[in-house]
Amino acid sequence: MYRGRRLRSSATIRSMVRETRVSVQDLIYPIFVVEGENIKEEISSMPENYHYSLDRLPEVCQEMVDLGIPSIILFGIPDHKDCHGSEAYNENGIVQQAIRKIKKEFPELYVIGDVCMCEYTDHGHCGILEEDGTVNNDETLKYLSKIALSYARAGVDMVAPSDMMDGHIEAIRNTLDENGYTMLPIMGYSAKFASNYYGPFREAAHSAPSFGDRKSYQMDPANGKEAMREIEADIQEGADVIMVKPALAYLDLVKEASQKYSQSLCVYNVSGEYTMLYMAVKNGWMKEDVIEETILSLKRAGADLIITYFAPYLARKWKS
Ligand code: PBG
Ligand code: ZN
Repeated sequence: MYRGRRLRSSATIRSMVRETRVSVQDLIYPIFVVEGENIKEEISSMPENYHYSLDRLPEVCQEMVDLGIPSIILFGIPDHKDCHGSEAYNENGIVQQAIRKIKKEFPELYVIGDVCMCEYTDHGHCGILEEDGTVNNDETLKYLSKIALSYARAGVDMVAPSDMMDGHIEAIRNTLDENGYTMLPIMGYSAKFASNYYGPFREAAHSAPSFGDRKSYQMDPANGKEAMREIEADIQEGADVIMVKPALAYLDLVKEASQKYSQSLCVYNVSGEYTMLYMAVKNGWMKEDVIEETILSLKRAGADLIITYFAPYLARKWKS
């Protein structure tokens, strides 16, 4: 008789036949940078995550280095917002300054810059608006390219456009190449869904749209085939890394993408997924180990890189 239990009988044999391991090497931690001084302020919708001013950034970067977390992804929250999101491509904008500071003080930390406009526009949409309120795709491409170039000039290690405009990878690739940044990789948020799981992030990043929603650019949660088409488009345009976002409600697509495409695959375990689990554990309704179980599932489904707000928690757990 087949007895699966034979190989489950001790911790040693369970470990020997374990198929998937997730390690600190796989993790990317999101960091929110704000203007001002001496700010380390907890984000109410995302407990144990903080807004940092530039001068307090080294604390969290040092923590990442000490924990062995190889990479961070930066989000900026500017004081000034306008219809062109001009702070997003300001050479002295908040993210550009953060990149310069981190690469100088922590050269070993791999810094990814999220490229989008929603934190920088006064209307909170991810691009340039037409008079009727729709986002003008091709006009937006010019701005995304400017943002990516300004990050490149500041010394970023990778750019990650999260806007969901058509042709964004190609536009950014061309601009980077024309300016000599042929070696700077692009990670496309390739299949990014119009998801309710972004709720806590939008509060954290002050990036909720002031009217309407993002459904005319982010994907319909019902569409899996279209997700593959979006990923293919990003690959054809030259994406070095592809992404599925959010993670948990879209694990079928993580698996499919990992089997279909040979590109490195990133999965974004988003803010709502974080806060949901955090609160359940905090309230004692689930054991803390549910967090590791959840992140493991992303790896098992085929993720290579994992962006997660649990990165420091996991790294601490594995270190002890
Ligand atoms: C900006 C952006 C968002 C997230 C990452 N980049 C929010 C959005 O699209 O509304 C979500 C991240 C998260 O929820 O953790 N385009
Ligand atoms: Zn956006």
